[in-house]
Amino acid sequence: LIDSVPDDDENYIVFDDTPGLGRQFEGIGAISGGGATSKLLVNYPKKQRDEILDYLFKPNFGASLQIFKVEIGGDAQSTDGTEASHMHEKGDENYQRGYEWWLMREAKKRNPNIKLYCLPWGFPGWLGQGTHNPYVNPQLTADYVVSWILGAKKVYNLTIDYVGIWNEKPYDVTYIKTLRKTLDRQGFTKTLIIAPDGSWDISADILKDQELASGIHAIGCHYPGTFSTTEARMTEKSLWASEDYSTYNDEVGGGCWARILNQNYVNGLMTSTISWNLVASYYNYLPFYRDGLMTAVEPWSGNYNVSTPIWMTAHTTQFVDIGWRYLSHDTGVGKLPDGGSYVSLTDAASGELTIIIETMSHDHSKCIRPSLPPYKVSPQTMTIFLEGSFAAVETMDVWYSKLAFDGTENIMFQKKQPLTFTDGKAQLSLGVDEIYTLSTIKTGNKGAHPNPPQSSPFPQVVADMFDEYPEYVEPNYLAPQVGSLEVRNVSGKRVARQTVLQRPVYWCNAETADKTISVIGDFDWPEMRFTVKFSIPANNGTFGVFVAVRVDRGGCQVQNAQGIFFFVFPTTRKFIVSSDFARKNVLKEGWLSSSTTGEHVIFLQVHKGVAIGKFDSRQAFNISAPETPKTGFAAVGTDNYGYIDLHQYLLQGPQ
Ligand code: GAL
Repeated sequence: LIDSVPDDDENYIVFDDTPGLGRQFEGIGAISGGGATSKLLVNYPKKQRDEILDYLFKPNFGASLQIFKVEIGGDAQSTDGTEASHMHEKGDENYQRGYEWWLMREAKKRNPNIKLYCLPWGFPGWLGQGTHNPYVNPQLTADYVVSWILGAKKVYNLTIDYVGIWNEKPYDVTYIKTLRKTLDRQGFTKTLIIAPDGSWDISADILKDQELASGIHAIGCHYPGTFSTTEARMTEKSLWASEDYSTYNDEVGGGCWARILNQNYVNGLMTSTISWNLVASYYNYLPFYRDGLMTAVEPWSGNYNVSTPIWMTAHTTQFVDIGWRYLSHDTGVGKLPDGGSYVSLTDAASGELTIIIETMSHDHSKCIRPSLPPYKVSPQTMTIFLEGSFAAVETMDVWYSKLAFDGTENIMFQKKQPLTFTDGKAQLSLGVDEIYTLSTIKTGNKGAHPNPPQSSPFPQVVADMFDEYPEYVEPNYLAPQVGSLEVRNVSGKRVARQTVLQRPVYWCNAETADKTISVIGDFDWPEMRFTVKFSIPANNGTFGVFVAVRVDRGGCQVQNAQGIFFFVFPTTRKFIVSSDFARKNVLKEGWLSSSTTGEHVIFLQVHKGVAIGKFDSRQAFNISAPETPKTGFAAVGTDNYGYIDLHQYLLQGPQ
């Protein structure tokens, strides 16, 4: 590891604070939401769930995250599902819905210093006042967002540190100013605005508008590819990669994350980088499978995976606190002569120093976006000189990882012998696809819980009567893709109610079908039976209800889903079977022979090439199943935005 004989062509790097320091470090974080990325985490057995949360949030254990960003649910599809709004309707207000409140508390429980950041993707329809523009009435939207922040404080004593504008959608200058004023009026002067959560393009507006400039703490750019623009730097605002990563969390994913954590500052002066997403906890075959710092997709078995990005994060977060300062470029921050990069940070007060070095090769560190221009990395020896306040440092702790692409085991966050400095000088041999942290901070620790239970497939039988949940939470397993489900008490009984009554101010096109849908099950099942007992409330009830099997997609493409869909319209007694969610391709139509009120049972089975549907135990149809799709999720939903109360379901797999 330590080469005592200096090479002739040695690379030497000086770490020195005398020329002054660089920007202030503002933390590494991750996002739950945008959307429904933590869906399956919620119903893990408590033991494994706590372990997962430790790997993410517990200081000096795993990722030790410093910022936790969550979606402000908007009742709209936001990538892997919808998240419930705290105000489905005007005048409605509820802080028990969904799982972000719970997750924020779990994060704070483990690390009281973690910063919280919130951002809407979609908005409930009423905010659009008949349009799909959330800025039609800027005050209304600002009040809506601030009420969420107020709810966090009042109900959970959670202080929200940062708030964004509208994820990757247009920003509106008047809205940003209105939001700032509304926050101030409500006493949230310390809740800072990150804008716009999209591109750097807002810089031009910031440069020409003093009021806007003073209202914004940081420019939040998504997937900046480690670069910021000259204009963005001219604003003198903090620069954040307020969403980044979104890469499959294998070795390349770890390489991507390690590279951007360093180079977002080296190339772009970004002082915060936030991963989409926190933990990949959504069904396989929903979009962006495993694009999280770790994976937890089996609440039924308790199995989870502590993936490479967790340890790549630890290389920075365990050795640098928010508020530390980067050293200057050339005297502590830069590119290595033979490829790779280094950053160094100091607490500035007591001479602590952390140096993070990465040598991720091009093909082993590509991120999902943007594309990465070619470059080369080769093994090299680095001679380190510590000067200025650091000249007297005698040893630094050494933490090391190597991502393996040759069939050998990865080395993840391993403690090595401390590095000894003689007259402020030491050497380090660097290989390729490695990351080193050198630090005067001695508290680094690789936390470990016992191995989780073995992985197993989705259970053959899942049933729920919704009677074991607190009111307002989203039921387990059912993953809303359009619309929102929450447990409610109706006439003394627990039901899962679809609560969205109009098309939201949507984030993607999922809502354009104007139907609601929740998926469940194992996408690889070719055969299944799905039984749902429901009733339709008298007020705002839906006209039609469906169950489906072999549903071939969710997320922002769900409006185009194919499968077998059995729609019933209890008031008109009509039924329709279609091979698509949009109900454009009808396979069969007919009349139901049962009563029109009260509780109904709808049943759909696909078995041996035949699809059979029953309504209130009477067979409605028996047809040959379409050739494709051959497998997919089961689903339940409504034909329009209206209430439905689900009383019970039973899902059976192929056995
Ligand atoms: C982002 C978006 C996230 C997620 C991600 C997938 O643009 O904000 O919600 O969709 O892409 O890569």
